[in-house]
Amino acid sequence: MKFLTFETKKEASKEAYKILKELIDENSTLGLATGSTPTDLYEEMISDYKKGNFSYKNIKSYNLDEYVGISYNHPESYHKFMDTYLFDHIDIDKKNTHVPDASAENLQEALKDYQNKLDHSTIDVQILGIGGNGHIGFNEPGTSFESGVHVVDLKEETIKANSRFFDNDINLVPKQAVTMGIKDIMKAKNIILLAFGKEKQNAIKNLIASDIVDENIPCTILKKHPNVYVLIDKDADYR
Ligand code: PGA
Repeated sequence: MKFLTFETKKEASKEAYKILKELIDENSTLGLATGSTPTDLYEEMISDYKKGNFSYKNIKSYNLDEYVGISYNHPESYHKFMDTYLFDHIDIDKKNTHVPDASAENLQEALKDYQNKLDHSTIDVQILGIGGNGHIGFNEPGTSFESGVHVVDLKEETIKANSRFFDNDINLVPKQAVTMGIKDIMKAKNIILLAFGKEKQNAIKNLIASDIVDENIPCTILKKHPNVYVLIDKDADYR
């Protein structure tokens, strides 16, 4: 595991983009994340694309997760997020982008379909954020390390943390989500995990400064992955 700390989210994201570019080519498959963590990385991707340095025409992508119970067009749906923060600004073919279909009438079928797609793909680089409780994707504490695509009941602390995107009203935050499983995440060839802000300190400490590998702290499984890059800002630094 490579562990790098930076003064700011911006600096960490610039370095994350450099690493990403070394790990992929224009035919790669990306695993993408949402939330506040990857936004500066996506800005780097957009800016380099606009300079003509990289094309996403043949890039495929799979997103980690999506809320259950809000429509695609809801401003906080992860479908919408990806359009707003990345896809609408680069030349990616939206047919090559995949976000779990959490508003499908038949959710079980949609889960199976997403699992099937993931099982037939190889993600070259997975971008990951991390929850204050150590979740990766929406794999909350207690999720089996063997899990595949599934529906999760979001933990109270995750609902609270995400209420900042929903007018600070926890009642507006979806209570469930569909997420790639931990096994799906671990299958990626490379993982770039970003963490910013002091709420992430404890999760980063569990990831970096202990030997614990425990389903109650989902991120700790990453210690078993051969190619993980962890980039944080100084606020997320527990030392
Ligand atoms: P955030 O969420 O990027 O909004 O902080 C990260 C996560 O919960 O995985």
